[in-house]
Amino acid sequence: MSTSLEELASAAATCTRCRLSKGRTQVVFGVGDPHAGVMFIGEGPGYYEDKQGEPFVGAAGQLLTKLLREIGLERSDVYITNVVRCRPPGNRDPLPDEIEACTPWLTGTLELVAPRVIVTLGNFATRVILDRAVSISRVRGQRFEIQGRTVIPTFHPAAILHGGGESSSQMAAIRSDFATVRRVLDEPVPVPVAAEEQLGLF
Ligand code: URA
Repeated sequence: MSTSLEELASAAATCTRCRLSKGRTQVVFGVGDPHAGVMFIGEGPGYYEDKQGEPFVGAAGQLLTKLLREIGLERSDVYITNVVRCRPPGNRDPLPDEIEACTPWLTGTLELVAPRVIVTLGNFATRVILDRAVSISRVRGQRFEIQGRTVIPTFHPAAILHGGGESSSQMAAIRSDFATVRRVLDEPVPVPVAAEEQLGLF
């Protein structure tokens, strides 16, 4: 197992676990604070992400950056990554075997960043993290406690751009979900209570 994100990213840079490796310009590993309290997980790199090597730099990324700022966060305060780290051709959906091949990179990233909060953007990330065939419109905005982390699914920003735009009900929903993220981040972090203290020895 890699002991740092840099090590993991350099191992991923030569990955050939699935067919997406054949068409990529580069692996788009992730960006942001390696010890962020919150990680945002999208679907997969698009055209601009593949060229620049950074997730969420195109139109959907600009909307993500705006939503982050609305809750007082910069991109550098959070960690941003994707379910698959190579661009699917023509921006098609990632296939199940591609997601499966890429999941160890996501698991490794989660272990190393160890965020308290995970925000899944859209169906693909939500299904991978909840490990259930859910629909994003049913679960968005809810809180799931999974392995000591709070998971908050919301719409993918691209769904807003391809749907009703920034005055749509989907945009209102994503804003409300980001407000939930802010609230969760503002909650006091539970301090582990030492066994002696629990037993009343202090
Ligand atoms: N959409 C995604 O899911 N991820 C990106 O990095 C860009 C667009």
